[in-house]
Amino acid sequence: MKILEVREMTKDFGGLRAVDGLNLGIEKGQILGLIGPNGAGKSTAFNCIAGVFPPTRGEIFFNGEKINRSKPWTLCKKGLARTFQIVKPFASKSVLYNVMVGAFATTDHRAEAEARAMDVLKSMNFEDKKETRAGNLTIADRKRLEIARALATRPKILLLDEVMAGLRPAEVDEMVAIIKGLRDQGITIFVIEHIMRAIMALSDRIIVIHFGKKISEGTPDAVASDENVIKAYLGDEYVVS
Ligand SMILES: Nc1ncnc2c1ncn2[C@@H]1O[C@H](COP(=O)(O)OP(=O)(O)OP(=O)(O)O)[C@@H](O)[C@H]1O
Ligand SMILES: [Mg+2]
Repeated sequence: MKILEVREMTKDFGGLRAVDGLNLGIEKGQILGLIGPNGAGKSTAFNCIAGVFPPTRGEIFFNGEKINRSKPWTLCKKGLARTFQIVKPFASKSVLYNVMVGAFATTDHRAEAEARAMDVLKSMNFEDKKETRAGNLTIADRKRLEIARALATRPKILLLDEVMAGLRPAEVDEMVAIIKGLRDQGITIFVIEHIMRAIMALSDRIIVIHFGKKISEGTPDAVASDENVIKAYLGDEYVVS
């Protein structure tokens, strides 16, 4: 059963068509990667799915239910959570407080929110920083906080928008392991990423978009050896002999 399905989704900003007739589906428990050049429409696709703004045309289904006009907080309560490419924590507040804010999206009880936040922090090896002010975190830890905040909402599907940008190679490896661990807990993952090593290692399938249109879809190996993808995005060093 597909947990998420997008049909013929288009998003126009004035005269600019940022997403152009996109079709995609994710099976429960899968990791789907979304790649493409800067400005290809990846974050815009996420924004439409997560209810930040509605698509101009097309349909979006979550667990079989049409969600086109749903707001982000409604979707969050249903189990669809996302991270933002530009992370904006409450900088003067602690890591624990920031993660509890995520939990409060789906519970009204303070004790429950705190217990959930602590569970998430433990599962991400982040417990030791719970009292640290979010504004004092390194980039890697801010990204980790962004994921922790989304996880505290108890999502069924998690949309990750470039959570590895700016990380050092060892930090990327750690993030790949964290994301695989989330999938092993049963969370479906939809991930945008420019770091090819990471997206290739993570994804069951990858969709490539260019000027808002899907130009390729398949296993990481199939996509990396697709000539259209090499021309539009990867460059010749990815040619598989
Ligand atoms: N809110 C908005 N209003 C107007 N134009 C927008 C808006 N958001 C995105 N765009 C435009 O839509 C196009 C797609 O942008 P988008 O951010 O979705 O690309 P992206 O694939 O996520 O790129 P990147 O890899 O750089 O993050 C770009 O031309 C961008 O300038
Ligand atoms: Mg983007």
